[in-house]
Amino acid sequence: MGRVASELVWSLLGLGLLLCSWGCLASAELRAPPEKIGIIGAGIGGTSAAYYLRQKFGKDVKIDLLERGEVGGRLATLAVQGQDYEAGGSVIHPLNLHMKRFVKDLGLSAVPTSGGLVGVYNGETLVFEESSWFIINMIKLVWRYGFQSLRMHMWVEDILDKFMRIYRYQSHDYAFSSVEKLLHAVGGDDYIALLNQTLHENLQKAGFSEKFLNEMIAPIMRVNFGQSTDLNAFVGAVSMTGADSNLWAVEGGNKVVCSRLIQASKSNLISGSVISIEEKTKTKQRGNPTKMYEVVYQTGSEINSDFYDIVLVATPLSPKISNITFLNFDPPIDEFHQDYQQIVTTLVKGELNSTLFSSRAKDQFGLSTVLVTDNSHMFINSLGIMASVREKESPPPSIDGTHVWKTFSQEILTKEQISKLFLSYDYAVRKPWLAYPHYKPPKKCPPIILHDRLYYLNGIETAASAMEMSAIAGYNAALLAYHRWNGHMDMIDQDGLYEKLKMEL
Ligand SMILES: Cc1cc2nc3c(=O)[nH]c(=O)nc-3n(C[C@H](O)[C@H](O)[C@H](O)COP(=O)(O)OP(=O)(O)OC[C@H]3O[C@@H](n4cnc5c(N)ncnc54)[C@H](O)[C@@H]3O)c2cc1C
Ligand SMILES: *[C@@H]1O[C@H](CO)[C@@H](O)[C@H](O)[C@H]1NC(C)=O
Ligand SMILES: *[C@@H]1O[C@H](CO)[C@@H](O)[C@H](O)[C@H]1NC(C)=O
Ligand SMILES: *[C@@H]1O[C@H](CO)[C@@H](O)[C@H](O)[C@H]1NC(C)=O
Repeated sequence: MGRVASELVWSLLGLGLLLCSWGCLASAELRAPPEKIGIIGAGIGGTSAAYYLRQKFGKDVKIDLLERGEVGGRLATLAVQGQDYEAGGSVIHPLNLHMKRFVKDLGLSAVPTSGGLVGVYNGETLVFEESSWFIINMIKLVWRYGFQSLRMHMWVEDILDKFMRIYRYQSHDYAFSSVEKLLHAVGGDDYIALLNQTLHENLQKAGFSEKFLNEMIAPIMRVNFGQSTDLNAFVGAVSMTGADSNLWAVEGGNKVVCSRLIQASKSNLISGSVISIEEKTKTKQRGNPTKMYEVVYQTGSEINSDFYDIVLVATPLSPKISNITFLNFDPPIDEFHQDYQQIVTTLVKGELNSTLFSSRAKDQFGLSTVLVTDNSHMFINSLGIMASVREKESPPPSIDGTHVWKTFSQEILTKEQISKLFLSYDYAVRKPWLAYPHYKPPKKCPPIILHDRLYYLNGIETAASAMEMSAIAGYNAALLAYHRWNGHMDMIDQDGLYEKLKMEL
């Protein structure tokens, strides 16, 4: 009797163990990875998504990147007499940790972007001129604006400090299903409220003077985002970090990060312009009919198509920029008519007519960057001496007074306008961009989840457009796609993450 009973006990136990192991497996084990993932756009957003998708889904998934132009997108260079200069996204903040990590992991080098002295021109005179002596700058600033610049610094620090939490969340694999939820997780209600206030309103309420806003803040917004302090307060803070010291760039050009990310992620780059996306039911070689996305793209005069389990759209969905049609989706997926503004980058090799800005003799004009106020009536947003992507430090000193200058302007500069700025010039080259959104708060960010397994990265630009923002969006979309594929809903949109992860320290 004992034997039968004990056998029964053992087999029950065995069954129990078996059940447990199944149960445990079912919750810990993952669904088979997708076969194929398509990413539209090989800028920093799309390529960083490829990098993180490979890390999450493993070596077997095929990843295609469809790109209609050059790898790098808005990270691009222009050549002036055999040297390359950044023409799009150029400076990176020391606390942009994804960009920093890419450079390290991909064996690239960072170079400091040239400091040089900055002046602010108001159409008549230089209202502010930086000095190479730190103490003199402080005295000038205090003299002119009281302690507002110090307070401004603290205002930016506070926003940046909170923003840094995103790195913690992402390194613990947490994902967010909307830009607002992501920003809420880093800074709470006050933080997303920044999206719906203009920088001007926010800083005015905080007691900053009109003079300070016009002379110090507006020129910084103009050089970074081509508009004044009427942009949202969050992108305003991001823009202010571009006035910090210790900014850097990637040696050889920032766009090199994108091509290295493609290599490192073993993705397949397809040259083609995506025309449409449609969900279709496809029977795979083995197994049941599966819903997949058909992506139709044009290469030269040829039309091709491919099927993907998951698709990431990593370009602004705006008819003028990407012109992708979403066929037969219910509810329909609209393009988000985000209004991207034109900014023209012009590189000029020549000698500046410094008397335009200052009555000082030209060998006494020590500024290497001139910013302008809104009421300056200048046809440019900024003007600065550039170092090439190969020069390790600041630009080489000039023997003949000529430098390579970069200007940003709303419109393409005429020959007359260039001649007005320069005593003489040898060479000029330009690139017009649909650069970043025209910011007009209040605004809701476009969704990240467009459909079941169809994700959109560039809605984050409605909050703020920068390389690091696109890298954050790329990582987030990769995590989101992964967790949704595996049904790990507890890794998405978690509340109280900051407190929770603090406890884990
Ligand atoms: C002049 C300028 C200065 C800037 N300065 C800075 C700076 O100093 N620091 C900073 O951090 N940021 C800066 N930025 C912003 C930064 O460059 C961008 O935020 C960032 O590069 C955007 O990357 P992305 O991958 O999201 O988009 P993009 O780089 O625009 O990539 C999208 C890609 O998709 C491709 N594509 C579009 N439609 C299709 C289609 N239908 N089929 C196939 N491919 C398609 C495009 O060709 C493009 O390569 C600047 C931008 C500009 C324009
Ligand atoms: C967008 O694509 C459609 C075809 O899909 C084309 O007819 C139209 O001219 C394109 N628009 C732009 C602005 O390129
Ligand atoms: C330089 O600019 C000043 C001020 O606008 C102008 O008077 C002068 O003629 C310019 N010099 C040349 C050589 O164009
Ligand atoms: C911001 O404004 C938009 C558009 O008016 C609105 O949809 C959104 O809910 C607002 N967000 C917040 C946090 O108030």
